[in-house]
Amino acid sequence: MDTWIGLMSGTSMDGIDAVLVSFQGKAIHTYETHSSPYPEDLRKRLALASQNQASPDEVGELDTLVGTLFADVAENLIRKSSADRSSIRAIGSHGQTLRHQPSGPGRFSLQIGNPSIIAERTGVTTIGDFRSRDMAAGGQGAPLVPAFHQHFFGSETEDRCILNLGGIANITWIPSDPNTLVTGFDTGPANALMDAWCQDQTGRSYDEDGQWANEGIIDQSLLSDMLSDAYFERPPPKSTGKEKFNLEWIKTLLKRHETVRPEDVQRTLMQLSVITATRQMPQSPAMVVYVCGGGARNQPFMRELSQALSPIRVLSTAELGLDPQWVEPTAFAWLARQTMNRKPGNLAEVTGAKGPRILGAIYPA
Ligand SMILES: Nc1ncnc2c1ncn2[C@@H]1O[C@H](COP(=O)(O)OP(=O)(O)O)[C@@H](O)[C@H]1O
Ligand SMILES: [Mg+2]
Repeated sequence: MDTWIGLMSGTSMDGIDAVLVSFQGKAIHTYETHSSPYPEDLRKRLALASQNQASPDEVGELDTLVGTLFADVAENLIRKSSADRSSIRAIGSHGQTLRHQPSGPGRFSLQIGNPSIIAERTGVTTIGDFRSRDMAAGGQGAPLVPAFHQHFFGSETEDRCILNLGGIANITWIPSDPNTLVTGFDTGPANALMDAWCQDQTGRSYDEDGQWANEGIIDQSLLSDMLSDAYFERPPPKSTGKEKFNLEWIKTLLKRHETVRPEDVQRTLMQLSVITATRQMPQSPAMVVYVCGGGARNQPFMRELSQALSPIRVLSTAELGLDPQWVEPTAFAWLARQTMNRKPGNLAEVTGAKGPRILGAIYPA
């Protein structure tokens, strides 16, 4: 049985998630998982680089450092699993996004984490650079997980919405009617703003279990100012990142709301993520929302989400057989398989590309 590795680190820059899996029809078998947080100093350097504050030398060095860490994680995963290396067909490595600029004349999406290092260290064929081909075909290069969601989470009896709560929130709407197209796009921030505010105000990289937000109350005036950002009104296809939704975005808005307490800002940011995700979601009476990503572990967030969508049910992707933490890395393992099998990985109706495209660059074993 062919096995595949997926390596993922998202906009949260919290660390690398890795899976070793096989695919059979619509079934996923997970053999091993592994997770490794970024060291604090690297996280700081990545944050600066993602704010456009890094020289070409620094970016080059980070590309090597992150590539080496991704290779370490793949090696640890393989050793932990005691898998036969020759059965591993390929590694799909998303890399670490530094900047994502899907519009304008110089549009690009920059992921670092040199795949050559991963291929060299593991001896396994590695696929990287998944986003740029879709962009070259006119697409946003994001989100890329909807094809995977559709394939494994689609149902003939239930309309499903997969909501991924990473740094950014993205949805995939999968109607049960096979004649209706899948839609998917980034709805805006999920954890990115909450993480940024929490780091700035408390020095902690995220608000564990939403405890700090729970101490605050929603400031309606601030919330309505936040909601007036044009991104939330724009029709899809659309994608975004921390180059837009960052600490500066919060601080600019706060100039008009100077008296709001920090914990109330945090609580309001949580509500912003809930409202923007739910309002932009296509809805049908019989739909069910399945949540994945780190935000699924934030109980107050999940509670607010359920309330906002009630009576629509909100569940975890664990109910579909895949733990929320491993959905994204599994998607990149599957995207690597698509590439190796010369099959497209994007959904043109989602990204806005001219058509389906085989994604990625292959770094042979
Ligand atoms: N126990 C928790 N309580 C609150 N938030 C959490 C918890 N665990 C993870 N998170 C949030 O999830 C984020 C990481 O989610 P992840 O899906 O890895 O995002 P990304 O794809 O952007 O890396 C963290 O930055 C944090 O904001
Ligand atoms: Mg992450």
